[in-house]
Amino acid sequence: MRPTVIAGNWKMYKTQAEARAFLDAFIPLVDPETCAERNPVLCVPFTSLGAVGQRLQGSTVHLGAQNIHWAENGAFTGEIAGPMLTEYAVRYVIVGHSERRQYFGETDETVNLRLKAAQRYGLTPILCVGETKRQRDQNETEQVISDQLARALIGVDQQQLVIAYEPIWAIGTGDTCEAQEANRVIGLIRSQLIQPATPIQYGGSVKPDNIDAIMAQPEIDGALVGGASLDAQGFARIVNYQAPSA
Ligand code: PGA
Repeated sequence: MRPTVIAGNWKMYKTQAEARAFLDAFIPLVDPETCAERNPVLCVPFTSLGAVGQRLQGSTVHLGAQNIHWAENGAFTGEIAGPMLTEYAVRYVIVGHSERRQYFGETDETVNLRLKAAQRYGLTPILCVGETKRQRDQNETEQVISDQLARALIGVDQQQLVIAYEPIWAIGTGDTCEAQEANRVIGLIRSQLIQPATPIQYGGSVKPDNIDAIMAQPEIDGALVGGASLDAQGFARIVNYQAPSA
């Protein structure tokens, strides 16, 4: 059985005070047993790692970050190193999110370096891949994703990895990829892996009202949730998705 991972990506949202208020509301809404099976993760801004990590101690909700540099330390203004994350008991880190690729010059090569760094520090990276609207319209989806994976995964241990299929046109737009289409692409991603047990999430406008249909798909092992992870009730509903009957 492949593990399930339901990750919230807070992006550049929430101060520490707002993060604490979120946890006060969220923690009572998720049952520890459900969490043990579904592995909820909160990928919070660096400034909230301390506050959130403290509140999550002893809980079955995991702490995640949104970036990691490949060097142990150095003159890299604005970046963050592995030991700075592990100090806060971070377990997961998002790598290669389309916003990093689009706005901050992230390439498959730097994604690869960041993935390997995460694993070196014992973190599980969540590697994001996905096509733009134009690439989808030109029938390039399969090729784009296959190239992203081939370049990003060189020398990466697929046993300590989560992949998120995030069609860029579905991120923050409310325009979700049909669950069956996401299932199809995720199946293709899996066929390119040497480790078939690697969990593969879907991401892009996941909401409380579509999570059940998404998680009912056989290839989909979880979700990477942006906007809807900012609301405690909404994210709890996503973590508590209704499992398809066996
Ligand atoms: P969204 O973001 O859920 O707001 O579409 C997803 C993501 O960027 O990971």
